[in-house]
Amino acid sequence: MSRLQDTSGAVTDIETFMASQEQKSLLRFITCGSVDDGKSTLIGRLLYESQLLYEDQIEALTKESKAVGTQGGDLDFALLVDGLAAEREQGITIDVAYRFFSTEKRKFIVADTPGHEQYTRNMATGASTAELAILMIDARQGVLPQTRRHSIIVNLLGVKSVALAINKMDLVDFDQAVFDKILADYKEFAGQLGLEQIRAFPVSALKGDNIVEKSANTPWYDGKTLLDHLETVEIGSDRARAPFRMPVQWVNRPNLDFRGFSGRIASGVIKPGSRVRALPSGKESDVTRIVTYDGDLDEAVADQSVTLTLRDEIDVSRGDVLTDAKAPAETADQFQAKVLWMSEAELFPGRPYIFKLGTSSVTAQITEIKHRLDILTLDQLAAKTLGLNEIGLCNISLDRTITFEPYAQNQTLGSFILIDRTTNETVALGMIDYALRRAANIHRQAFDVDQSTRALIKSQKPIALWFTGLSGSGKSTIANILEGKLNALGKHTYILDGDNVRHGLNRDLGFSDVDRVENIRRVAEVAKLMVDAGLIVLVSFISPFRSERLLAKDRIGEAQFWEIFVDTPLELAEQRDVKGLYKKARAGEIKNFTGIDSPYEAPENPDLRISTKDLSPEDAADRILDRLMTAGYLLR
Ligand code: ADX
Repeated sequence: MSRLQDTSGAVTDIETFMASQEQKSLLRFITCGSVDDGKSTLIGRLLYESQLLYEDQIEALTKESKAVGTQGGDLDFALLVDGLAAEREQGITIDVAYRFFSTEKRKFIVADTPGHEQYTRNMATGASTAELAILMIDARQGVLPQTRRHSIIVNLLGVKSVALAINKMDLVDFDQAVFDKILADYKEFAGQLGLEQIRAFPVSALKGDNIVEKSANTPWYDGKTLLDHLETVEIGSDRARAPFRMPVQWVNRPNLDFRGFSGRIASGVIKPGSRVRALPSGKESDVTRIVTYDGDLDEAVADQSVTLTLRDEIDVSRGDVLTDAKAPAETADQFQAKVLWMSEAELFPGRPYIFKLGTSSVTAQITEIKHRLDILTLDQLAAKTLGLNEIGLCNISLDRTITFEPYAQNQTLGSFILIDRTTNETVALGMIDYALRRAANIHRQAFDVDQSTRALIKSQKPIALWFTGLSGSGKSTIANILEGKLNALGKHTYILDGDNVRHGLNRDLGFSDVDRVENIRRVAEVAKLMVDAGLIVLVSFISPFRSERLLAKDRIGEAQFWEIFVDTPLELAEQRDVKGLYKKARAGEIKNFTGIDSPYEAPENPDLRISTKDLSPEDAADRILDRLMTAGYLLR
């Protein structure tokens, strides 16, 4: 057996190897199902039957099967696949295992993803490059909610072809009625989704029926075996025919004589002489060379990684997209998109997340959830948030214009991920439907009197003093005293207070996490306007989440924002209980009470920390006043 046929190598090695193979077509597929459906066994069998296992692996497998296998001495293929996975996990954490095998007719890359409910994320990662999905169904269980969820994701990600492996047929006596019933159930559901290319196979991954060889146990089945199907299913990739697009990964400038733009071609064909337009700048030039490690090319197509040099010195940087000048991609800063939520922490409309598409990275907010999809019925449900594994149709707004294409046209430029800014967790996967142009005819108006003129006649520099802390920590008390002192000095101020604003502007909001996020978002916008008016604004809100305090700081501007942490231990706030709310919360009369059954994320690096254990409200106010004076906010 050839050394090259190592099944556990990194994807890039696999691709290099495969490039060197003759002109066999390549099928990328994904297997979906839960651990118990027999997924690992199926993959193990495909690898075994295509004889891509090392002798020593087989030897080890035989030994292990005898020792710990569940198959009474027969080869336990699940052990093999799980074993490889364990090996891999010791090194780097990839949650999707790409395995390679080939037959005489075709080469294959199979994305094997953990099947547990929580692992939707990995499944989506695997499916994003797949042309076909094998959905594993346990013949004894039939179509499960999980099967439906996987189908929806597979469909969302544009996988056209589904192979239904109805497994463990041996455990239902190879009963045709069972097979027919499952297929009919599935087709009914898939029809609603619009999935069309469905083939079903009565198999036993364990015993091998209808995987590679036709089974004598299913005389009623006259279709192909699963492998036969994988070898012959049509895979028309139209990415080469689509217009040229290449997100720029980096600008390659080793010396003054060379300036190239490196990236992986997302779609289309490029040749020296092709006219390209750089987006979002819109500047055009001609390609002069296509440079690769193996020398210059006369032509490059989708999926190839290349460095392009251009005739003119146009400004192109990382995150930009080079496109066909005659058929450029769109640019926009608002979209409608389908969003698959992949985090235990729910989605907060209004919270800024990092949005990554292609090679660009910007800040984005979900501005509206139009509906959430019911996995079972496909009904569109009203939703204020999305939880783990939920799929919603959302409007999304970016802080900058980016280059994109609808997902249906281009998977690379049409899909994005959202990352939580404080935890760095990838929380969602999104697919763009189309751009929203609501703000297209609204331009910023410039006025002659600006913030500094407004502030100057008040003899002050404007600032937002953002008081955060538990309920009853003393925020409003300190703000009140401080405002009195500022007022006495002739300064122009305003207090935005949670309890008060919740009677008017925010009277529609309660105390769920989602509502608190929106509460702070709105107040941050109001505080921003007030700072722009030249005022010293005292904002007194619990503002329990770091993300929203960060949002406020970003919106208002770092130079005009102080985070003041009114640090009062819960015991002390509860002991004081000025409003009697802690008592009620402890008695279960108030739900979601901060510090009791709703979280408070204390500031890590506040501009000022006031420990009310050690400092009276009067002294606290004086200390802030001192700081304002020293820092030059109070002129004259
Ligand atoms: S925030 O969390 O969204 O920032 P905000 O500062 O507007 O809260 O409002 C907090 C005030 O609302 C508290 O000081 C308290 O008087 C009152 N309140 C009523 N219910 C709750 C609750 N469940 N959690 C916290 N505060 C509550």
